[in-house]
Amino acid sequence: MIDFTQFPSPCYIMEEELLRKNLGLIQNVKERTGVEIILAFKSFAMWRSFPIFREYIDHSTASSVYEARLALEEFGSKAHTYSPAYTERDFPEIMRCSSHISFNSLAQFNRFYSMTEGQDISCGIRINPEYSEVETDLYNPCAPGTRFGITADLLPEILPQGIEGFHCHTHCESSSYELEKTLLHIEEKFSGWFSQIKWLNLGGGHLMTRADYDVEHLIGLLCKLKMRYPHLQIILEPGSAFTWQTGVLTSEIVDVVENRGIKTAILDVSFTCHMPDCLEMPYQPAVTGAEIGDKGAFVYRLGGSSCLSGDYMGNWSFDHELQIGERIVFEDMIHYTMVKTNMFNGIHHPAIGLWTKEGKAEIYKRFKYEDYRDRMS
Ligand SMILES: Cc1ncc(COP(=O)(O)O)c(C=O)c1O
Repeated sequence: MIDFTQFPSPCYIMEEELLRKNLGLIQNVKERTGVEIILAFKSFAMWRSFPIFREYIDHSTASSVYEARLALEEFGSKAHTYSPAYTERDFPEIMRCSSHISFNSLAQFNRFYSMTEGQDISCGIRINPEYSEVETDLYNPCAPGTRFGITADLLPEILPQGIEGFHCHTHCESSSYELEKTLLHIEEKFSGWFSQIKWLNLGGGHLMTRADYDVEHLIGLLCKLKMRYPHLQIILEPGSAFTWQTGVLTSEIVDVVENRGIKTAILDVSFTCHMPDCLEMPYQPAVTGAEIGDKGAFVYRLGGSSCLSGDYMGNWSFDHELQIGERIVFEDMIHYTMVKTNMFNGIHHPAIGLWTKEGKAEIYKRFKYEDYRDRMS
């Protein structure tokens, strides 16, 4: 149990024990299947915790030049990099920091491949199997008109010299059964090229650490896939699965207001600044000690401290009347939430910390006025 009195408010707090539980599960899948499982930085980049990750996994995946540099300098190994579009300015640094580079289009491959020759970099191309079970368009990489990947009809029968792998990402918080169906589509459309490649990266979205995920089914699927194509190195690059339910955002009530019978507790955090995926998806996060819904005597909206009218969510039902200064803890606020924050309105950015397995608070970062100022000019 986190001792919140040892942390400032607001603060993102990751729990080492919960992280290690996820990492142990992922390592087990890796070892039993022979599949490489790497961390997608886009979901999580709290680099001071990377030494813990390195006890379980060897690599990470980057989607930009900064993430690639973070891989090399802080994760301590070169990145598997995929970006929708590389630029001449960034590509030399991308090469310095990457062991694998996946291109989004043949045009990008043709533009940059020659620079990678002789550099010990394995290049690949992103494929689009035109099948995804993701229903929210914001997260569906196969929606009609998508800018991601090349469809099978546009891929030449003989791959251009230098393409050694296929990269494919079609999942989001998905089950192994969705992967099973996706594999049928990938193999139906692209297996004709498999003899020409060395690796197949099945992207992220494999939420193997969710309580109801059928891990044994995933292991079976991956083992059978490897048996069908023994020469292929299979790679998964989940993000969320690593830090799923490993920590919270703790905040405090600053005021309680009422309008037309609706009570709002205004917090020292903001949905739009510090939990933007709640508004984007949208989804209502769990709050410790409260029920989602409007049943009960103590029903509140929770409001952010920005001036955006829509910076609130609701409703939550509490078992008591909320008081100024009271702690409000949002659960499962580590994956994606932390990496997507901003400093809109110049309001305090939550600190970042770890609750160690020994029961100690490690404060990794506190934000200051200068962090806000220096982003602005
Ligand atoms: C190319 C790619 N790889 C990996 C991931 C990580 O996915 P997730 O965090 O859902 O596992 C994403 C997420 O958008 C992605 O776009």
